[in-house]
Amino acid sequence: MSAITMRELTKVYPGGVRALDALDLEIADGEFFALLGPSGCGKTTLLRTIAGLEVASGGSVRIGERDVTGLPPGKRDVAMVFQDYALFPHMTVRDNIAYPLRIKKVDRRTRGGKAADTAEELGLSGLLERRPGQLSGGQQQRVALARAMACHPQVFLLDEPLSNLDARLRLEARTFLKRLQRELGVTTVFVTHDQAEALALADRIAVMEGGRIRQVGTPTEVFRRPANTFVAGFIGSTPMNLIDARVHGGELAVGPARLPLPDDSHGQVTDGERLVYGIRPEYLDYSPTAVPGALTGEVVVVENLGSVSLVSLDVPADDTGPADAGSPAGDAGRTSVQVVVPEGAEPEPGDTGWVVPRPGRSLLYRDGTLVTATATAEVPAPRAGAAVRS
Ligand SMILES: Nc1ncnc2c1ncn2[C@@H]1O[C@H](COP(=O)(O)OP(=O)(O)OP(=O)(O)O)[C@@H](O)[C@H]1O
Ligand SMILES: [Mg+2]
Repeated sequence: MSAITMRELTKVYPGGVRALDALDLEIADGEFFALLGPSGCGKTTLLRTIAGLEVASGGSVRIGERDVTGLPPGKRDVAMVFQDYALFPHMTVRDNIAYPLRIKKVDRRTRGGKAADTAEELGLSGLLERRPGQLSGGQQQRVALARAMACHPQVFLLDEPLSNLDARLRLEARTFLKRLQRELGVTTVFVTHDQAEALALADRIAVMEGGRIRQVGTPTEVFRRPANTFVAGFIGSTPMNLIDARVHGGELAVGPARLPLPDDSHGQVTDGERLVYGIRPEYLDYSPTAVPGALTGEVVVVENLGSVSLVSLDVPADDTGPADAGSPAGDAGRTSVQVVVPEGAEPEPGDTGWVVPRPGRSLLYRDGTLVTATATAEVPAPRAGAAVRS
């Protein structure tokens, strides 16, 4: 078993930066787990602390049955692929892949054989005698993976392994990585700040901010029901619309517009209460003709995204002032609403448009936290050993 369990894990760097702040997290055996968050939120620190390359200032890390908090990296049975691959430039591909085995004092013949086998699995057989400088970015990435794989670790830690690749190679590499992880079934923690990559690859995602976990869930859970406005704004290729609203006679008032209350907010809100209404641009429908009660305003920007366009409207809204936590900044009394419009139906800047939320897709946030009748704050237990999901 190689589940990873972190309890109140804390890392304070010399100088006082609290990079991990009493973080609790459980990663299941065999899971492909993504760590997502803005630059500086502590992703690399968390991986390095799991690997033993950083000493925890407090709390514990367990891998399987073992408490590894006090163990040096070599005794933890983890392999890490770094942000910059960190290949040895003076060594051949073969020697790079075999290096961890050399450290483990595996004899020369065995390690040569293992390096060749791993290289073959990763399609590197023809490149064994080359040096890293003679490889493409994608090939270097595979060498770094092969080096991590060659010693069959219990845990893979991958720190933005795709970040140096161009967009096309990156897509190829991530499909490859997903297949490889599924075949090997090794517990994998994958750091990225690309939310699309996390959604595409992971069994579960943890979204981090300031050394803490803001939400853990499947890609669907974090996309459909962000637990707070931070996650809502972070996940999704276009951030969720977060609009100041007021409960008014069983409906939500946004300026002159009246919107239905989200399904599971019934009984959870009080009349007159100010909240933040959240809806993804993908879940709004645009109408060029008047829809009674709908959000309406002037089209200010139309961005072509290929098969769809992202349309921004300037909409009159409640003047709730800056006090509401999690409310977007904007001119008092106006707000910007974004809606995804299919090809061929795009309006022109200057047009007046109406937007209508699709049923079951809107959310409410109070003080930045999701208002819900069901207890989604609980983190669902990961499926035991079930990393496989395509
Ligand atoms: N060796 C160090 N000494 C002091 N502070 C550090 C050190 N390494 C990282 N930090 C700080 O700790 C915080 C977390 O850094 P970390 O590298 O874990 O972030 P990250 O989420 O990996 O960011 P990125 O996406 O930019 O790689 C940052 O504020 C960073 O400046
Ligand atoms: Mg990092």
